[in-house]
Amino acid sequence: MIDPRRALLVAELTAGGRSASRYAVPHAHAFARPWSRLVAGLVLRLARVPLLDQFAIREEVFYDLLVRRLATEPHGLLVDIGSGFSTLGYRWAQARPDCQVFELDLPEVSERKRQRVEALGRPANWRTHGLDLERQPLSSVLAGARARVLVAQGVFPYFSEAEIAERLGRWRRECLLEDGLVLFDLLDAGFPGSTTANRRQGLFKSRFDSPAAAVALLHRAGFSQAEVLPLNALGAAHGWPNPGPNGLFVCVGECSGSTPMGEVGV
Ligand SMILES: C[S@@+](CC[C@H](N)C(=O)[O-])C[C@H]1O[C@@H](n2cnc3c(N)ncnc32)[C@H](O)[C@@H]1O
Repeated sequence: MIDPRRALLVAELTAGGRSASRYAVPHAHAFARPWSRLVAGLVLRLARVPLLDQFAIREEVFYDLLVRRLATEPHGLLVDIGSGFSTLGYRWAQARPDCQVFELDLPEVSERKRQRVEALGRPANWRTHGLDLERQPLSSVLAGARARVLVAQGVFPYFSEAEIAERLGRWRRECLLEDGLVLFDLLDAGFPGSTTANRRQGLFKSRFDSPAAAVALLHRAGFSQAEVLPLNALGAAHGWPNPGPNGLFVCVGECSGSTPMGEVGV
């Protein structure tokens, strides 16, 4: 079981890294703490882990995918699982008052996120709730509602491949609309930072050798359409070149429809 204090620290440092990055996204500073910005910036630079910019690029790539995929669709529920101090849900709730945003994380993290959003001015269509993914099914907090999009940003590296496949399959059957999308990232096994973090702390439970391995995972979970691209390639297509090795694969699964990332042109 994940230690809630450690989870909180990782969530803070992810937000801090996003805020310290040269590609800082809108509201990144508001969701990070000054200490997390300083610590994440220093640690990641000193450790020469080229992940700092990838937190910010990942958030922009995810946000851009939402905009591209859902621009012409009214309504719809977006559920951000393990949302931490990401800006994604808040920005989406502000940009799309016709949609509902539901953010979930461990209770300690969820409560702090609520306080930060309240301080900024909570959008009426935004809410958060505590959920421990290891102990509770996602359906237990959705009360029968089905999402148009499920997002899990920076969450699956803490779960094994079998655990990810099991959750993706269950979410697809119980929590997504028939034409719903799931959007998440997985750790690239070739990324040197992941080896370092594992050696020191045993932090990550899954890493993937190739996009094909991630596509196979989505198919195993019952998604008929699966697209997986390296984060660096998606970032570069948006004009955010990252000089480091690729750290993450961005994955989109859906049960019907066109190729999710086709429009990005990479
Ligand atoms: C690397 S952080 C990413 C946070 C956020 N999505 C972002 O991109 O800034 C991982 C998040 O997963 C959450 N998490 C880890 N294990 C969890 C669990 N068992 N249940 C719910 N959330 C969990 C952590 O609390 C943390 O917020």
